[in-house]
Amino acid sequence: MTAPQVVLVGPMGVGKSTVGRLLAERLGSGYRDTDDDIVAAEGRTISEIFVDEGEESFRALEKAAVAAALAGHEGVLALGGGAILDPGTRALLAGHRVVYLSMGVEEAVRRTGLNVARPLLAVNPRKQWRELMEARRHLYEEVATAVVETDGRTPEEVAQAALDAL
Ligand code: S3P
Repeated sequence: MTAPQVVLVGPMGVGKSTVGRLLAERLGSGYRDTDDDIVAAEGRTISEIFVDEGEESFRALEKAAVAAALAGHEGVLALGGGAILDPGTRALLAGHRVVYLSMGVEEAVRRTGLNVARPLLAVNPRKQWRELMEARRHLYEEVATAVVETDGRTPEEVAQAALDAL
């Protein structure tokens, strides 16, 4: 059975795709992102799926996408920021090398606060980020085999820290 060399988890905007691509380059492997898999399979954007069917349906699609990617990809795999909310998805990660890319609330607001394309942050980004981090931090920590802090670091530095943590 194939398995990813490393799975990246962490909040939206933390740099999972940028860091993931750098990591894949350094490991000489491929990069895959379950958000992209879902969009390709559904022929709709993530925002459209949220609006059409709600978060619960999206999480079910996401769990299936994570299961498929864990079983069929050997390189770097990045998960959507909320994938860890689903207990079944968290269970799928057992036995994998999972790096949690973390950032503080202020860094999150600075990086994504004005990006209204992110459906979860449309109003009052600072408050929503605080609540999001409080609700999710322990879940990221639960699935992670390593934690890499990203505040004040370039994507290259984060990728190197992630490599060092493997
Ligand atoms: C989400 C994060 C997004 C995407 C969806 C929901 C979340 O992924 O899956 O918008 O709940 O945090 P990214 O972390 O890749 O932006």
